Amino acid sequence: MDNTFTLNTENLPQHIAIIMDGNGRWAKQQGMLRAFGHESGVKSVRETVEACARLKIKFLTLYAFSTENWNRPKLEVDALMSILMNSLKKELPTMQKNNIKLNTIGNANMLPDRARKQLFDVIEQTKDNTGMTLTLALSYGSREELVAAVKEICEEVKTNKLDIADINDTVIQSHLYTRNMPDADLVIRTSGEQRISNFLLWQAAYAELYFTEVLWPDFREEDLHKAIFSYQKRERRFGKTSEQLK
Ligand code: IPE
Ligand code: IPE
Ligand code: MG
Repeated sequence: MDNTFTLNTENLPQHIAIIMDGNGRWAKQQGMLRAFGHESGVKSVRETVEACARLKIKFLTLYAFSTENWNRPKLEVDALMSILMNSLKKELPTMQKNNIKLNTIGNANMLPDRARKQLFDVIEQTKDNTGMTLTLALSYGSREELVAAVKEICEEVKTNKLDIADINDTVIQSHLYTRNMPDADLVIRTSGEQRISNFLLWQAAYAELYFTEVLWPDFREEDLHKAIFSYQKRERRFGKTSEQLK
């Protein structure tokens, strides 16, 4: 699979985040219902997760459902929730075999009871795994995450647990859903759209962005390797000059 791109194992992103987009268009191309596209996307999830685990990527975050996606037709939302539930159950052995720890970010309270139970059951069963952390962004929106963080911080100020002067990047980071994760190094979006769609606004401040025309159900290990290869050719300057980095 990786014969076309030789990846430098010394320079792998620590945290890859993927906006899995294009399921609906993929299904439409075959004259099928959108839900068929979502179901077909599960295979891409499995392949990507296994490929990242093989590369020993530490953190993989998958944008599976946004706060805005609740506004889709009920039929589609219900289909997505049942695909989520079934896949969690089905993929548990793969997670155990690959030593993967499941995590979630987003407003889990919004999820239907059965889906939430299934999710936290798998999180519990994989909590002692020490390999890759796989985070599902479910009912996730960066703005909602920031609003929740601001409220928590205000509460701490109000109750004299925190001084306004002490609010800094670290304090804000420690109130985000991603408090136990490093920032995203590489954000991939499939399907040709070039936007962030309310994903990891804070955490992707210095991420390298990679866009591909490939629709999510067609995304394979080779496409992941292409994205990482592109990442490895870039110089991450973090505001400095190229000379300073030498
Ligand atoms: C991504 O595919 C999956 C979710 C957003 C849940 P879409 O369903 O957005 O597919 P397109 O963008 O309509 O093709
Ligand atoms: C972003 O995709 C959300 C997920 C991939 C889960 P959308 O398809 O919902 O994004 P927009 O609406 O095209 O920006
Ligand atoms: Mg879309």
